[in-house]
Amino acid sequence: MTSNIYLLEIAIFVLGFFSVNLDLAACANFSEVFELNWAPHHIISEGDQIKLTLDNISGCGFESKKKYLFGQASVQIKLIQGDSAGTVTAFYMSSEGTNHDELDFEFLGNVSGEPYLVQTNIYVNGTGNREQRHALWFDPTLDFHTYSFFWNRHCIVFLVDRIPIRVFTNKEENGVLFPRNQAMSIRGSVWNADDWATQGGRVKTNWTHALFVSTFRSFNIDACELLPETDDILAQCGKLSRFWWDKPAFDGLNRHRSHQLKWVRRRHLVYDYRLL
Ligand SMILES: *[C@@H]1O[C@H](CO)[C@@H](O)[C@H](O)[C@H]1NC(C)=O
Ligand SMILES: *[C@@H]1O[C@H](CO)[C@@H](O)[C@H](O)[C@H]1NC(C)=O
Ligand SMILES: *[C@@H]1O[C@H](CO)[C@@H](O)[C@H](O)[C@H]1NC(C)=O
Ligand SMILES: *[C@@H]1O[C@H](CO)[C@@H](O)[C@H](O)[C@H]1NC(C)=O
Ligand SMILES: *[C@@H]1O[C@H](CO)[C@@H](O)[C@H](O)[C@H]1NC(C)=O
Repeated sequence: MTSNIYLLEIAIFVLGFFSVNLDLAACANFSEVFELNWAPHHIISEGDQIKLTLDNISGCGFESKKKYLFGQASVQIKLIQGDSAGTVTAFYMSSEGTNHDELDFEFLGNVSGEPYLVQTNIYVNGTGNREQRHALWFDPTLDFHTYSFFWNRHCIVFLVDRIPIRVFTNKEENGVLFPRNQAMSIRGSVWNADDWATQGGRVKTNWTHALFVSTFRSFNIDACELLPETDDILAQCGKLSRFWWDKPAFDGLNRHRSHQLKWVRRRHLVYDYRLL
């Protein structure tokens, strides 16, 4: 009986949460969707892979040409192999300006053989300081893994290989701001952050190990795209019930996914700003 319920939950989870995404699984054409906005010469396009490189001269980055409000964005990344201490690889979404909103995945490198950490953060109206850090249950340098943002008016979910590692729930009724008024572009970058990234900044980037390379592929964006001629974001992307992510099934995590999140928090959470 229990296992039947479990299977049913998995079925609902698969059908509910990802059917739309899987049906539309065609990946975005990188050069159509993104532009290179920092050190284009450090970005190498190889078949369906985009290699972001860091050396002692520069890091690099890309940004989507369009901005989005609500939906889902994922990418597969294979992180810098070997000694990646001092480096950060980022997959993030951000709006512009000092009162910007931002959602971050930041992958903090480490010396060879020591584990990467994934730092997530959320800025609302220019204020961040909501860091969480997780260890991963696999070596993210050996193969590609999928990192995704899911975002609607009720919650923001950070997923790793479709497993939720973090949920930020809309608590506006308690006076906590929630990012729902600013469209964000989707971005990726690699840079040197050896003043803080690895073991609290104690381990510096060893430049004799450059070139540092993180590889991105399989960009998948299923989100409300803000048309440039529109300034009424909410009329365009904020209308209820227009998109799949507004269905009640996506107001929060279902039971199966809540179990997954609990497992991740119990086994892999290493830092949470709320638990200081
Ligand atoms: C992606 O778009 C560019 C520019 O439109 C085009 O030249 C290229 O062939 C496309 N690549 C693929 C894999 O479709
Ligand atoms: C950067 O690295 C290159 C290649 O290792 C080296 O020749 C050069 O001296 C370095 N430059 C600086 C400013 O460290
Ligand atoms: C956003 O921050 C600015 C100050 O940086 C403040 O004036 C404004 O009221 C804030 N917006 C909201 C919705 O709280
Ligand atoms: C790097 O490895 C050390 C030692 O295992 C660990 O304490 C640390 O959390 C790891 N990650 C980072 C980003 O420092
Ligand atoms: C940097 O890497 C080189 C080559 O592996 C090694 O000889 C050197 O000791 C490293 N430097 C530091 C500061 O760890």
